[in-house]
Amino acid sequence: MTALLKPIIEVQDLTTAFGSHVVHEHLNLNVMPGEILALVGGSGSGKTTLLRQILGLDRPQDGVVKLWGRPVHDYVGPERLALTRRWGMLFQSGALFTALSVFDNVALPLREMNYLPPDLVRKVVMMRLKWVGLDERDALLMPSDLSGGMVKRVALARALSLDPELLFLDEPTAGLDPQRSDEFVALINALHQQLKFTVIMVTHDLDTIRDLSTRVAVLAEKHVLVEGSIEQVMTFEHPFIKAFFQGKRGDRALGTHV
Ligand SMILES: Nc1ncnc2c1ncn2[C@@H]1O[C@H](COP(=O)(O)OP(=O)(O)O)[C@@H](O)[C@H]1O
Ligand SMILES: [Mg+2]
Repeated sequence: MTALLKPIIEVQDLTTAFGSHVVHEHLNLNVMPGEILALVGGSGSGKTTLLRQILGLDRPQDGVVKLWGRPVHDYVGPERLALTRRWGMLFQSGALFTALSVFDNVALPLREMNYLPPDLVRKVVMMRLKWVGLDERDALLMPSDLSGGMVKRVALARALSLDPELLFLDEPTAGLDPQRSDEFVALINALHQQLKFTVIMVTHDLDTIRDLSTRVAVLAEKHVLVEGSIEQVMTFEHPFIKAFFQGKRGDRALGTHV
């Protein structure tokens, strides 16, 4: 018998409003185990708000967000704590604590667990640095010593410190030059193959979408307008899709340029 895969994230009939400003209306989205879902949409379309709701930080006016089959707001106390340990987050800005060394940044989530002995924390931190292609000596550096690409790697090491099942990436390649961006995408791809986590990422970078995502969901007109492969999404008739995917940008993303 084949096991039926259940979604890790289920967003059902979500409605979000700030005062009279309706941001989401009847929004539905599922994320399946092992996927790398790219969430795209115009500025102000509600991507960050949706991520915050999935994390249980904001409450929608209506509808429900389920994580591993249970409404996110049903996880309280120790269950909420256990839930937060099943995911990692890589945020675009403020990725690292500038007053903490690379080591201490990556160690932070492990130390917050309060029960890991220091030698084990050290082992795990060093392993995570290795995962992201850094070496032991880098552990002593301060964030101000790091290049943009290294900051992203350290932030990724920290997001992966608890070996999460689910990874949230907010504009993972923003601010990186094309070569560093390609390297970072390759790194996430390699780790994804090895560690089998599930990813939901917000990005507007077509190269990142093409090289990293296994599925794309477009947020427009207050809901998920279309979802599927990049090819499926790109051919959907809509002004936002046209502006976002078509023309030179789209040719490049599909690899149809000469
Ligand atoms: N806490 C808030 N209070 C009032 N309006 C908000 C709040 N958070 C977001 N918004 C509004 O909701 C809309 C969607 O915001 P956001 O989710 O940040 O969009 P995106 O990340 O897609 O650019 C924007 O118009 C924003 O101004
Ligand atoms: Mg945003």
